[in-house]
Amino acid sequence: MTDRKGNGMLRLLLVVTFIVTTSAQSAQDPGFHPSEEVTTLGEAEARDGGTDLEFRYHDHEQLTRYLRAVSARYPALTALYSIGKSVQGRDLWVMVISASPYEHMLGKPDVKYVANIHGNEAVGRELLLHLIQHLVTSYDSDSYIKWLLDNTRIHLMPSMNPDGFAISKEGQCDTIHGRHNARRYDLNRNFPDYFKANTKQPQPETEAVKEWISKIQFTLSGSLHGGALVASYPFDNTPSARICRSSVLCSVFQSYAHSPSIAPDDDVFRHLSLVYSNNHAKMSRGVSCKSGSPRFEHGITNGAAWYPLTGGMQDYNYLWHGCMEITLEISCCKYPPAHELPKYWQDNKQSMIKYLAEAHRGAHGFVMDENGNPVERAAVRVKGRDVAYHTTRYGEFWRILLPGTYRVEVTAEGYLPQDVEFIVIDSHPTLLNVTLHSAKGYVPSLPASRKKYRPNRIRSSSTSTSTTTTAAATTSDDGGWKFPED
Ligand SMILES: *[C@@H]1O[C@H](CO)[C@@H](O)[C@H](O)[C@H]1NC(C)=O
Ligand SMILES: [Zn+2]
Repeated sequence: MTDRKGNGMLRLLLVVTFIVTTSAQSAQDPGFHPSEEVTTLGEAEARDGGTDLEFRYHDHEQLTRYLRAVSARYPALTALYSIGKSVQGRDLWVMVISASPYEHMLGKPDVKYVANIHGNEAVGRELLLHLIQHLVTSYDSDSYIKWLLDNTRIHLMPSMNPDGFAISKEGQCDTIHGRHNARRYDLNRNFPDYFKANTKQPQPETEAVKEWISKIQFTLSGSLHGGALVASYPFDNTPSARICRSSVLCSVFQSYAHSPSIAPDDDVFRHLSLVYSNNHAKMSRGVSCKSGSPRFEHGITNGAAWYPLTGGMQDYNYLWHGCMEITLEISCCKYPPAHELPKYWQDNKQSMIKYLAEAHRGAHGFVMDENGNPVERAAVRVKGRDVAYHTTRYGEFWRILLPGTYRVEVTAEGYLPQDVEFIVIDSHPTLLNVTLHSAKGYVPSLPASRKKYRPNRIRSSSTSTSTTTTAAATTSDDGGWKFPED
């Protein structure tokens, strides 16, 4: 429910949050602008039936036209914004689908899908267009979709790598042509990494995504890929093994390791992956794509157990922002012929919807001070899973958890830490409000709690200083860094 009356601070209009940057700056410093211009330009297409969506591939212009047409035709359910531009100047479009597209709904989660981070993996790009179509046209007739959109803001980015897509070729199943961005960087190796320093130069597409997810607290996310059929979950990377000392040796060693890198929320990630694979027409059968490629039991895998990688997006989402992201490999062929698209849509439709609804599992609530004011950036840590999730400016947090009894520690600067025990059940989320008491007047002899995963603590400073951030995040010289398996 959105609190519309009274507290103007609670109104989170996209136009306010996303500072529109101007001309010269906007190339490196993306702003988000669900502009009126976009809507107006879409009107003509809406009248011309531009919201009809065929099963074929849409180039950047066609995709843009479609998104504009939908946003013009469904203004109450959609908002279109761009988080920045690719190297070659193409907009990185995001469509929000929600009963409250322009305004965050207090206490309700924001979720996302990002497709086409690898430009030649094209199926997810088209499926997100069909998901948009399906959601906006089902709202009035399908009570489940109505519930979902009334309680969730769904942000869909059909292409994170429009430049790579522009040079990719339909029918190419196995090549890497078009995978990288226009400067030949693999964007799914371009994020700050928790386990190893990532020295790759940050790319505009990656910077835009980092900025985006630092501004919106996403609870759940899926990254759509092609080339396999599996749901792959964190961690993608592994800590350096003790036996390798040089980074070159390490990377050689790691690439043959194939051992799982277990996240503290392994149970949750497995569950989320199973929700996708079990709702998919065939993913859970775990059939290998072709002879010689792996079979995945139940259609899921730990990322590092498949193959470790540095600089991936999913580990970053989780460790820096408390957003649970998994990687969805949805087609054996990276860029299959267009006539196969209806089949892909049918295979994935149920999975895509049911997966997003998982944002409503677990515990969520508000952290407030003694006067009932929200405490922003309080760290919410569930005991035994030491990844800090931080509260929003409204004091909100979300923590996806399976049924069970948990203990949470909430800490914030200037307040006494607070421990709360709570239970999670299967049928609906647990509401958990936590009141923090000011530390003023107390002798500051608080036990410094062991903070295993530090990256989260510096998330808001990551903007445009990503190189520094990377270094800081992967520095382990303060003794605070420790892998949970140790
Ligand atoms: C929890 O806090 C929110 C925000 O202050 C409030 O709207 C809600 O009524 C509270 N719920 C409970 C059960 O205390
Ligand atoms: Zn990929």
